[in-house]
Amino acid sequence: MLELRNIRKVFGDCVANDDVSLVVHKGTIHAIVGENGAGKSTAMKIVYGFYSPDGGEILLDGKPVTIRNPHDAIALGIGMVHQHFLLVDTMTVAENIILGAETGSAVNLDLDEANLKIRELSDSLRLNIDPKAVIEDLSVGQQQKVELLKALYRDADLLILDEPTAVLTPQEVSEFFTILRKMKEQGKTIVIITHKLDEVLAISDEVTVMRDGKTVGNVKTSETDAQALARMIVGRDVLLRVEKPDANPGDRLLEVKGLTVKGRHGIAVNNVSFQVREGEIVGIAGIEGNGQTELIETIAGLIPVESGAVLIDGNDVTRSGVKKLKELRVAHIPEDRHKRGLLLNSSLKENSILGVHYRPPVAVSGFLNDRSIEKRVTGILKDFDVRPPRPELAARSLSGGNQQKLIIGREFELDPKLLLVSQPTRGVDIGAIEFIHRAIIELRDKGRAILLVSAELEEVTALADRLLVIREGTIVGEVDPKTATVEEIGLLMTGGK
Ligand SMILES: Nc1ncnc2c1ncn2[C@@H]1O[C@H](COP(=O)(O)OP(=O)(O)OP(=O)(O)O)[C@@H](O)[C@H]1O
Ligand SMILES: [Mg+2]
Repeated sequence: MLELRNIRKVFGDCVANDDVSLVVHKGTIHAIVGENGAGKSTAMKIVYGFYSPDGGEILLDGKPVTIRNPHDAIALGIGMVHQHFLLVDTMTVAENIILGAETGSAVNLDLDEANLKIRELSDSLRLNIDPKAVIEDLSVGQQQKVELLKALYRDADLLILDEPTAVLTPQEVSEFFTILRKMKEQGKTIVIITHKLDEVLAISDEVTVMRDGKTVGNVKTSETDAQALARMIVGRDVLLRVEKPDANPGDRLLEVKGLTVKGRHGIAVNNVSFQVREGEIVGIAGIEGNGQTELIETIAGLIPVESGAVLIDGNDVTRSGVKKLKELRVAHIPEDRHKRGLLLNSSLKENSILGVHYRPPVAVSGFLNDRSIEKRVTGILKDFDVRPPRPELAARSLSGGNQQKLIIGREFELDPKLLLVSQPTRGVDIGAIEFIHRAIIELRDKGRAILLVSAELEEVTALADRLLVIREGTIVGEVDPKTATVEEIGLLMTGGK
């Protein structure tokens, strides 16, 4: 159905796509995998007319096509769901879907008609989306479905999904895959970019591997496995399991006492108490939206406390704010890198000093010390393998996974006593996941305290020394991650529902 021949795309002096060739067969689910920055999103954005290629050709049903913009792509039956959603929060589902449907005629702006068609589409795939719901009231998983509906509304036959599962909970992922299979039955063709090899194996018919802007392999999914794929992606063997020695915890470093926090929809964190000691990783497991985000952001000084107290190293920091926390060497890797983690239009260099820009060695007597900043940024880019390692580049032009590596590098650079970390490996490639897991464990073994939230149950159980389960803002249990079963944790997370 879709064929790319020798596609090339250059941004300035960065070759994003060097030589991309692949064939996607009609009615199949085709996975594209590869390291962060390999050029996956770029190649697919070219198919969607977001960028025009500097070389090569695109064929659709055997015929060469020119796709100058998304409008052309939509007319050819191509739809795309981007790595970062493009929905307007304050508008309804239907409004978002018809917005920019790019037909322009008044008829198509008829909301009632749109509501009807969206409801039909939603029903045919059992998406359970109300066209009149406002986006900001929907969960991330539901927003994902809205993005799908948006493409289907425009009659897409070929759907390109760029890391659609990165922000979904495990339950949402399996639901999402059921939808994809149904779409395939309806004759749609799907291209899916993902870093999760178990997903590739579960959902795809064929896999294409990209490295350094080139397609380097193509296999039938039934003829490969996770180890083999990992080797094709990274070019070496990858440890897909976390291996760590037992923790050797010391003094209490973080103490949370009866913490209550208000969220957007009432009480988000309800009378939570726990401790994290030096040299241990405490994990928090829970279905997203159960208060874990608010909990960690409160400890990080970003959300005000309603009642209760937070103590770090014996200091009461309940109302201290971010600056004081940074001075106590509290690092925070936030879950939403665009909202909280980076200044997208600023350079990597500027981003590398966020939070420490006012104090030595970055600033001396009120002046920024360029040499020390330069040293800091090159160190981070090198140690955390941020590609391309160019300090002057805007954070926006890094690929998703490389943005995440930059944030992690910056926070580790604080040599934190306490690391607060949410979704550390979201959107990160398997080689980098191995690296980040090791870095977190090394930090622990240096005697540092780590509080970890991850929607990936596998990740929290593998990394945490102690695992707390949160539900509806309350810690409902503590389990030993070494012995607890997924069912047991799942039961606590859902309250047996
Ligand atoms: N608009 C842009 N301007 C400059 N460079 C860009 C731009 N978009 C992408 N790049 C560069 O092109 C390369 C490929 O990026 P791309 O986003 O396609 O990678 P990816 O395979 O999707 O990675 P990830 O898995 O991290 O999402 C990267 O080195 C990136 O920094
Ligand atoms: Mg990408």
